[in-house]
Amino acid sequence: MSEEKRIPRHVAVIMDGNGRWATQRGLDRSEGHLRGVESVRRTIRAAVAGGVRYLTLYAFSTENWGRPAEEVAALLELFCRCVQNEAEALADQGVRVRIIGDRERFPEEVRDSLERIEACTAAGERLTLQLALNYSSRSELARAARELCRQALSGEIAPDAIDEQTVARALYTAECPDPDLILRTGGEQRLSNFLLWQGAYAELCFTPVLWPDFTEEEFARALDQYAARDRRFGLVKTPTPKRS
Ligand code: FPP
Repeated sequence: MSEEKRIPRHVAVIMDGNGRWATQRGLDRSEGHLRGVESVRRTIRAAVAGGVRYLTLYAFSTENWGRPAEEVAALLELFCRCVQNEAEALADQGVRVRIIGDRERFPEEVRDSLERIEACTAAGERLTLQLALNYSSRSELARAARELCRQALSGEIAPDAIDEQTVARALYTAECPDPDLILRTGGEQRLSNFLLWQGAYAELCFTPVLWPDFTEEEFARALDQYAARDRRFGLVKTPTPKRS
């Protein structure tokens, strides 16, 4: 009897390779980011079609502020434009957008657009799309630690009551299950400060394909790789009894 294919409930993606894609073509790096938007659209469509319920895209890390000012400005402008232009189409596809990361550092115009897209897509039930913007795992964990200390000092929680669930609830991703699959494009094999707590048991998948070249087929291939993995969560697999 054939088993049903295992689909990851939550896929998280490190979208890497925009700059190299552009440089290889003699273009400005920002052209790579622009082309990357098409891959974002394709990936959202593929996730919906593939039955994935949560998709997290690492769009801007806390470290990315250190890039040349023109590139940062171009990226912020692009995020603003995208969230304004895509909100309706995403709502029509049943996609709910949530922003994770510290949005306080963004200019007011960007913050307003982020709030608008969250409000406009709030009813989406097919896919929750988490956009990680000004996000890093370490800053997220430090923020959670500050919040839990504050609660402990004010007597809202007892320090001894702080457990894994309490920490998980203090993260940006509190409402979202842990990622089952973390996929990185662009050939590097590292997590770059992305979902370090949440990804404790995630399957990892790396592809050399640069983000602007990432297609629905590539996404489907990653889902196939995931389906073939043996997930044990630190346990021992129970052997299937042999038939006599
Ligand atoms: C990493 O590639 C990519 C980014 C820092 C930006 C990602 C942004 C997009 C895909 C644009 C649209 C996104 C949304 C959510 C609207 P890199 O520049 O580090 O590439 P490199 O390693 O080749 O230099």
